[in-house]
Amino acid sequence: MQNTHMQHIAPEDFAATVLKWQQQHGRHDLPWQQPATPYRVLVSEIMLQQTQVVTVIPYFQRWMQAFPSISALANASEDEVMALWQGLGYYSRARNLQKAARYIELELGGEFPSELKQLEMIPGVGRYTAGAIRSFAYDSYGPIVDGNVRRLFCRLFAIEGQPTTAAVNKALWQQAERLTPELNNRRFAQGLLDLGATLCKPRNPECTRCPFNHACAAYTQNRVGELPTAKLKKTLPTKTGHFLWLPNEANVMLSKRPDTGIWASLWCLPEVSEAPAEATLVASFKHTFSHYKLIAKVWQPEADAAVWRELREANTHYQRAPINLQNIHEFGLPAPMLKLLNKLLQEDSNG
Ligand code: ADE
Repeated sequence: MQNTHMQHIAPEDFAATVLKWQQQHGRHDLPWQQPATPYRVLVSEIMLQQTQVVTVIPYFQRWMQAFPSISALANASEDEVMALWQGLGYYSRARNLQKAARYIELELGGEFPSELKQLEMIPGVGRYTAGAIRSFAYDSYGPIVDGNVRRLFCRLFAIEGQPTTAAVNKALWQQAERLTPELNNRRFAQGLLDLGATLCKPRNPECTRCPFNHACAAYTQNRVGELPTAKLKKTLPTKTGHFLWLPNEANVMLSKRPDTGIWASLWCLPEVSEAPAEATLVASFKHTFSHYKLIAKVWQPEADAAVWRELREANTHYQRAPINLQNIHEFGLPAPMLKLLNKLLQEDSNG
C-alpha cells in the first residue's frame, strides 16, 4: 500500500522541518491558541471537526463568553447550549460538549485529564481530539490525524485506498505515531494542520512552497491530483418531512426535538408523520444531511383541532410551546428552519 522511499523519513528531520515551517508560515493568531487551556482546546477542536476556521472563530468567542469554564458549561441549560451552537450544524457535538463538561465536573472532580487514554474517555473525544488536547494544551506527545493530516500523509507517503477504510487509517496513525516528536508538540501539531490547510489543500495544492516537495511521493511522481484516493460518491436517499406552521399573533408553535436523530434537541416547527388532510403548503425547502436529503414541506392546516390531536398522540415526549417571535434567538433552531421562519414572518407582515 505504501511507497517505500519516504516511509522511513527520520522523525527528527520531519519534526524539525515542520517546526521551522510553522514558525515562519504557520498560523499564530487563532483565538484558541491564546491561552491554549485544555477546555478551550476541547471546545475549539469539537467546533472545528466539521467546520472551517473562519466560521468557527465567532462561535468560539461567543461560547467562551457564555461558558468561560468547564463548570459554567456543566451548569448551563441545554437550550442555552443549543442556542449558541445555532447554525454550526452537527448538533450532537454541542450536546457532547456539555456531557464532557459534566463528566469532568462530576466524575473527575473538575480536574481535566492529561493522559491520552483518560482523554479518550471523555464523551465525544476520540483519538484525534485526545491527541490534539495533549499537543495543544499540554504541549506533550499526542499524535493527530484529521482531514488535513490525512491529505498530507496520503500524498507524502503515497497511501492509497478509500480514505476511511481501516487499512488506510492504520497506515496514517502509524505514521502519525512515528513522526510525532516528544518536544514542541504544540507547534508541531499546529504546523501539521497548517501545512494541510494552507499548502496541501484538496484542490490546487501549493507544492512549490511546500518544505516536503522534494520528498513527497505524490509530487515527485506527478500524482498529486490522484492522492488521496477520491471517495466513492454515494447518492444519498431522499426523505420527505412534514412540518406544521401554526402562527398565532406574535407566537409560533415550536416543539423541541428528541435528543437523537436529525436536529436533536433543537426547537423546530412540529413534525408530523404525514401531510395533514386539509392544509395549505406554505413553504418547502431541501436540506442535505450526511446520510440523506430532506425535502421539508411546511403545512398550514385548515382545522387546527385534528392536528393538535395528532401532535399530542404522536409526540407525547416532545416539549411544545408557543414561542414569542421576539424571543426566538434564545432557542437553538436548525439554520434552515430559522431562515424559513424569517421568510414566512416577512410574508405575514407584508400582508
Ligand atoms: N483544525 C483543527 N484544529 C485546528 C487548529 N488547532 N488550528 C487550525 N485548524 C484546525
